[in-house]
Amino acid sequence: MKLNIAVLAGDGIGPEVTAQSIKVLNAIAETYSHSFEFREALVGAIAIDKTGNPLPEETLDICENSDAVLFGAIGDPKYDNDPSAKVRPEQGLLRLRKSLGLFTNIRPVKAYPTLIDKSPLKESIISGTDFTIYRELTGGIYFGDKKLNDAGTVASDLCKYSEKEIERIAHLAFKAARSRRKKLTLVDKANVLETSRLWRRVVSNVGKSYEDVELDYLFVDNAAMQIILNPKQFDVILTENMFGDIISDEASVIGGSIGLLASASIGNENALFEPIHGSYPQAKGKDIANPIASILSAAMLLEHFGLKEEAQAINEAVEKSLSLNIVTTDLDPESAFGTQKIGDFIADYIVNAEDEVCI
Ligand code: IPM
Ligand code: MN
Repeated sequence: MKLNIAVLAGDGIGPEVTAQSIKVLNAIAETYSHSFEFREALVGAIAIDKTGNPLPEETLDICENSDAVLFGAIGDPKYDNDPSAKVRPEQGLLRLRKSLGLFTNIRPVKAYPTLIDKSPLKESIISGTDFTIYRELTGGIYFGDKKLNDAGTVASDLCKYSEKEIERIAHLAFKAARSRRKKLTLVDKANVLETSRLWRRVVSNVGKSYEDVELDYLFVDNAAMQIILNPKQFDVILTENMFGDIISDEASVIGGSIGLLASASIGNENALFEPIHGSYPQAKGKDIANPIASILSAAMLLEHFGLKEEAQAINEAVEKSLSLNIVTTDLDPESAFGTQKIGDFIADYIVNAEDEVCI
């Protein structure tokens, strides 16, 4: 298969972790005779520095004309504590999601048997956890009207959803549940929010076409508790934009590190793959960032194009590295392995799957 992949490495550790994914995708191309072409483009703080725009036209153009986007990370501390900044790196990612119509963000969460002791949660609670979060990505409070009065003393962000926006992601989430353990949990705040009541009505209607899937509802505050009390109860979680952002960081604690969580953002015409972690500026250039979330996002990219065996080869290589404790210091403070070594190991393992890999 021939794939044109736009690479938006972005800020902080983005370039280092994305470089490992490219290494791994090249190993896949070599082993399975595919041709992957990579085109780099600017996004985020680095794009602001160079062009004044967190999502330059040229970047959007490259993304629109690629089969998929491989995204690194975004954000720079110099903007975080400056409430008056008019242009922010995050706007680049948000505009990209909106412009490419990436309305569904899929975030798988699982407890790797070999990492059980790395999580601060008890083994009895997390062992066997395997669920996926379907987070709505182009609506809700992230994209509603934002206002600040002239005196700068009153602000508002509008949370708005339409039936259509809910329906399209609900169908994808039900289909995913159907191919898994057939359970869908809608996470909302329907005891308070009108938008959440709309979500309940629309999702329960969509559910009528998926009678084989059990649908239940949880308020987000309770869901936040259940995710760490009894994560095994979940199969597919469906939720709106901001709740999904928050509970997915929380869920990453189950796996032992946020450096393991991958994601796919899917629309009708485009798809983008990115780790859920941020730009981790303190680690930039130190070769200590965990590249696995990015590498697993590359696996999701392959899966999206039907390359199941190839995606599986990456997942197996990742599991191998975890089981051999070839991990970065977020998972083992004593580890001598850096970002690049992990990428090398996983790429080599794919190429030499049959033979023993030397490290
Ligand atoms: C994420 C990130 C983004 C979000 C930020 C960087 C805008 O936290 O992908 O989870 O809030 O969606
Ligand atoms: Mn987030």
